[in-house]
Amino acid sequence: MTFSILAGAAHGGGQPAWAMLAYLVAGVFFILALRGLSSPATSRSGNRNGMIGMALAVGTTLVTHDIANIVEILIAVGIGGAIGVVVARRIAMTAMPELVAGFHSLVGLAAVVVGFGAWLDPQSFGIVDAAGQILPVSRIELGLGIAIGAITFSGSVIAFLKLSGRMSGSPIMLPGRHVINLGTLAAIIILIGLYTISPAGAAGEGWMVIAVALLAFIIGFLLIIPIGGADMPVVVSMLNSYSGWAAAAMGFTLGNTAMIITGALVGSSGAILSYIMCRAMNRSFISVIAGGFGAAPEAGPGGAREQRPYKQGSAEDAAYMLEQAEKVIIIPGYGMAVAQAQHALREMGDKLKEKGVEVKYAIHPVAGRMPGHMNVLLAEASVPYDEVFELEDINSEFAQADVAFIIGANDVVNPAAKTDKSSPIYGMPVFDVDKAKQVFFIKRSMGGVGYAGVDNDVFYMNQTVMLLADAKKMVEEIVKSLD
Ligand code: TAP
Repeated sequence: MTFSILAGAAHGGGQPAWAMLAYLVAGVFFILALRGLSSPATSRSGNRNGMIGMALAVGTTLVTHDIANIVEILIAVGIGGAIGVVVARRIAMTAMPELVAGFHSLVGLAAVVVGFGAWLDPQSFGIVDAAGQILPVSRIELGLGIAIGAITFSGSVIAFLKLSGRMSGSPIMLPGRHVINLGTLAAIIILIGLYTISPAGAAGEGWMVIAVALLAFIIGFLLIIPIGGADMPVVVSMLNSYSGWAAAAMGFTLGNTAMIITGALVGSSGAILSYIMCRAMNRSFISVIAGGFGAAPEAGPGGAREQRPYKQGSAEDAAYMLEQAEKVIIIPGYGMAVAQAQHALREMGDKLKEKGVEVKYAIHPVAGRMPGHMNVLLAEASVPYDEVFELEDINSEFAQADVAFIIGANDVVNPAAKTDKSSPIYGMPVFDVDKAKQVFFIKRSMGGVGYAGVDNDVFYMNQTVMLLADAKKMVEEIVKSLD
């Protein structure tokens, strides 16, 4: 396939006014989509708006190009779409973060490939001057697009490997990493600058572009390997942001308004989400981006841990205490997602409410493995939105709660975040479950740890009763005992 399909619209290459208008309308749909996705109640309409916007943008691009081999495009769409359908049907909810990281890597790779395509065949992209040489402004766009794309690609591959457990989730700290990172970044910027000002056809021009790509691949790798443990959520949203900027940079090269708008929306919303995540984790944005926050976990899964006494209870014990309570706060976490316990949990909540118990759900911003993970699961189980509260809105209520019911959460209730400076989660705000009169803690065994791999003092508190079982089975038994 030639690059002509991409090039027709390049740099305002004769786009009709209606096409510009269609791109603008698509942009409005994307904004409405983001707005809708900000709440579980409106997320379906948000998704719908996103799909309409994307159909409009892709349709407009296809019909406004002079030479577009529709058959080839349809074959490519068919193959890509089929892979997408299979992946979407097969993927477990718990594997979503690595899937998202995997998809980000493809966006990054696409930006690099388009960048090289434009560099090799600039004529087709309409980015040349009268003498047939690439315009300086296009050289900047090209360099930036390739650099951001390559960073996104290698960074996302590392994030995928870490999140899927194919690589250790612990931070890997290289000595002098800040100097290496800054040096590599400076080299990339200098090379893009040299490429922009170098006379057309100058010796070494090609090597500059290749060197930018290689260095950017390396920096993407270096930026993500030192991030580990509880800081991975920030990485996911940061890479989301990078993938948007990579697409926007390519939008400039292709002269495609819709791509610029979409890329900028993804880039800025990802950046805002990263900032929100950093605030939720009490991390500085810069230190997470620069890498290497957090220490190595004290005892990863299977690591040696001190044996301490704890109390173990049964579903009947829990049911008895829960129905006696006036106020119960439920804290769901990753284990609820693994067990798919949300429906049984909603049933338990309904039964307790019938018995006059006040039930609230407390959601930590990084509970689970992706932003909004718990909100999505609770919404799927039709838990009323007005019973679901964010950390800062509910944390003060634990002091008045009779029961804190922890289901598959761990790091987000770990007091080491408040007290232990050597802990990888130190500084992250956590739920004050220790203030509740009684704590029930569902997990499968005392051996398992949370994502950050650290022991949790809550297991051993006087008022804590451990309910050691699969979360769904345990909650189903509690529901039976409540009958
Ligand atoms: P975690 O700290 O990961 O703890 C999960 C708990 O669930 C463990 O105690 C585990 O213990 C238990 N569990 C697993 N499967 C279970 C099952 N079938 N039944 C019952 N319990 C089960 O979860 P969290 O408190 O939600 O914290 C999230 C962590 O992930 C944070 O450190 C966060 O930074 C990190 N993270 C978050 C994201 C996003 S964006 N949310 C992305 C990447 C990483 P057992 O194994 O003993 O059962």
